[in-house]
This record gives sequence, structure tokens and C-alpha cells, in this order.
Amino acid sequence: MTAPVIAVDGPSGTGKGTLCSYLAQWLDWHLLDSGALYRIVAYAAQTQGIDPDNEAALGEVARNLDVEFIPSEPGRDVGVLLAGRDITQSIRNEDCGRAASIVAALPQVRAGLLDRQQSFRRPPGLIADGRDMGTVVFPDAELKIFLTASPDERAKRRYKQLKDKGIGVNLRQLLADITERDARDTERDISPLRPAGDAIVFDTTDVNIDTMVEKMIRTVRDKFPNITRDR
Ligand code: DC
Repeated sequence: MTAPVIAVDGPSGTGKGTLCSYLAQWLDWHLLDSGALYRIVAYAAQTQGIDPDNEAALGEVARNLDVEFIPSEPGRDVGVLLAGRDITQSIRNEDCGRAASIVAALPQVRAGLLDRQQSFRRPPGLIADGRDMGTVVFPDAELKIFLTASPDERAKRRYKQLKDKGIGVNLRQLLADITERDARDTERDISPLRPAGDAIVFDTTDVNIDTMVEKMIRTVRDKFPNITRDR
């Protein structure tokens, strides 16, 4: 029997990453941060001087990533070692997010990351965080959740997140970047960002993170009545 998967998709700034890391810790399940993989491909390609138009070379990078993930505390970024070097923070800036969104539109890059993403599905279960977890990578996921929030609210949250990390950004520029990235992720031909037909959609615009955690836990309990752990 394969391990159960909870697929959580949506754009950035919806609380998705934080909620996924809480769920993974609460359930003691594995966590896949698929966005990190696209960021790592973009970062690795850049450091190797690969032309962003060279899809075959980028696909090769995606297939052969020498990457190790180090689990972290809930609410913190997963640790990333690329060829043994700690790049956890280097992949978290907005430039890398934009570059990730660009390489993510390339079919050979997506194909190159597919097996690696699916290999995270191990007992006792997997929380899969991304854009196409419920539609493409784990179409048979036991539970699919899609998170949305208004672009303004997402920009504000992202601004705070980056500021807390000491990364200086301009809110108006951030909103423009978010809007551009959403358009690219939603309109691409392959695996566009969209809810699976059987996903439960939550709008998190006016909902704080504690309430969202409660909602997610309730949704998980409804789906998996055998889960008896306390909150
Ligand atoms: O979640 P994130 O901001 O780390 O993701 C960075 C980019 O990677 C995002 O703009 C689109 C791409 N991505 C994707 O295409 N598919 C995924 N499953 C996850 C991320």
C-alpha cells in the first residue's frame, strides 16, 4: 500500500508553507516543499552559467540535482544543501522566486523533477506543498487543499516575511512581482497553477494563521478519522 498524501496547492503568500510545515509536524509525516526544488534548479543553473533559454541543459540540471533537505522547525524554511553547500537562504529571495517561476514553465524541467518529488511519498504519509501537487504529481492524493488570498494581502504577508528575515523589499514592487509571477504560473501550458477538480478551496485573505491551522486540522481529521493525536 502506498503512503497517504495531502496535497496543498496555491500561490505564495497564502500561508501555504507555514501551514504545511505545521501539518507535517503535527502528523509526523514527511514534507515536500516542491517550490524549493524549482528554486534550486534556477539557482544551480545560474551558478553554472546556463543560458535560461537552454531547456535541454536546464532539464539535465533538474534530473541530476545533488540536493539534500534538512527538516526544520514549523514555520521555518527547510534547510537545503546543494552539493553539500548550505544554500537555504540563497534561494529565498524574490529574484530566485522569479527565476524559479521561469524555469518551472519548461516541460523538461518539470519532467526532470517528477520522480524526485514522487519519491517523497513514504510512510507514514506526505504533506506535499506546491502548485501542481493535486493535479499532476499526486493526482491520487487522499486529500487535496487549494489555498487562495487576494494579491494585496499576499504581498503584505510576503513583505512581512522578507522583512523578518532582514531582506529589504518595496511593497509596491512586491505586489507587481507577485502579480507577474501569478500570471506566469497560471497561464503556462504545462501544469498550470489551478485547483484540482476534487480540491477543497480555502480563501485565507481575512483568516489569521492560527484559525487556518485549526481549519486544516479539522479538514484532515474529517478525511482521516483514524488520526487520534491531540493538537
Ligand atoms: O512556492 P515557491 O514560491 O517557492 O515557488 C517558486 C516557483 O516555483 C513558483 O513561482 C512556481 C514554481 N513552482 C511550480 O511551478 N510548481 C510547484 N509545484 C512549485 C513551485
